[in-house]
Amino acid sequence: INNLSKEHSLVSEWIAEIRDEQVQADRMRFRRNLERIGEIAAFEISKKLSYVRKEVQTPLGIANCKVLENQPVLATILRAGLPLHQGLLNYFDKADNAFVSAYRKHNKDGSFDISLEYLSSPDLEGRALIISDPMLATGSSLVKTIQYLREEGEPSSIHIVTVIACTVGIEYVRREFPQAVIWCGDIDDELTAKGYIVPGLGDAGDLSYG
Ligand code: PRP
Repeated sequence: INNLSKEHSLVSEWIAEIRDEQVQADRMRFRRNLERIGEIAAFEISKKLSYVRKEVQTPLGIANCKVLENQPVLATILRAGLPLHQGLLNYFDKADNAFVSAYRKHNKDGSFDISLEYLSSPDLEGRALIISDPMLATGSSLVKTIQYLREEGEPSSIHIVTVIACTVGIEYVRREFPQAVIWCGDIDDELTAKGYIVPGLGDAGDLSYG
């Protein structure tokens, strides 16, 4: 697991704002901070991908450059994942994209199931899959989404980008997908019986979109 705020950086500053209920009133700042964390995650993940050499003709000669061997596929979970996804897409600007809808369908006894209803994805066979969702609580949404996406082909690698991850959720995802690399903005230990991360930040979907 890679914690993006482990070393002091601007990521810590943005996470402090994202968690702060007074700053949260500014929805544009909330979304933009998620987007900026997505941009930093994209840069970090880009160091783990494969590159090939490419000779580039400049106005003055030929430069030996390196370019991505293959473009990754960026996947996200509607709707809270959209700002984080946009940040990743700002940097991986030639990537293909996949979208999945997932929501918690509450049962009468207070428990909930994850309902997946929409999937749009390119062929994932042999490609790096980068999947983003700002909250990793129980991990059920991510696990179900990745299972669903893998029906579109087996990715060569899986990177999960999240902003606030809960210890229990991280463990669940790692058990299900030991090969996946998790990138998170920060880690919280507590998960309530209703599946909310404490202290967390609240509901990222509502805070982004109302
Ligand atoms: C939130 C969040 C994750 C999920 C995390 O979505 O964006 O997708 O819950 O919980 P889990 O790890 O326990 O599955 P929510 O259902 O609130 O939908 P929204 O994005 O539309 O707000």
